[in-house]
Amino acid sequence: MKEYNLKTQLRAYRWDELSEEQRALVTIAKEQTEHSYCPYSHFHVGAAAKLGNGVIIRGCNQENAAYPSGLCAERTALFAAGAQYPEQPVEKLAIACFTDGHFTKEPGSPCGACRQVMVETEHRYGGKMEVILYGDDETYVFESAADLLPLIFVSENLKG
Ligand code: THU
Repeated sequence: MKEYNLKTQLRAYRWDELSEEQRALVTIAKEQTEHSYCPYSHFHVGAAAKLGNGVIIRGCNQENAAYPSGLCAERTALFAAGAQYPEQPVEKLAIACFTDGHFTKEPGSPCGACRQVMVETEHRYGGKMEVILYGDDETYVFESAADLLPLIFVSENLKG
């Protein structure tokens, strides 16, 4: 038997410790929570993706009476980016969550399906995508989406 320890790198920042660029992106993700369509969960999630050309693509969760037909904020932003700017890498992705009248103290934690899509996005463009998870108390910054999903499944795995 062998044992492998998978390490992940996460940094937690106070608001004033974030860069101006990170704060600007988080501010857009926070604004986006206002556009979230979440009549079932009342959990508003906003996302902002910054592309290599500087364009920022906005997203927010979109729910549906047929629950599984809805989509998380992260994927609305990443799929919109892929549809509108297929040649542009996504360099940064910021997320913010708002519920019960306030932004969450703890950063929101992306679901497994969103992590898989984030990793594919990173892989597709061959670089790292920084992931910024906003929380009112502290904000988590992952240098790479892969840090959120150890043992990733990517196109090479399909080759066996
Ligand atoms: N949600 C997101 O948009 N992103 C996440 O990272 C976690 C969950 C959404 C899905 C659903 O609309 C609501 O939050 C409650 O799960």
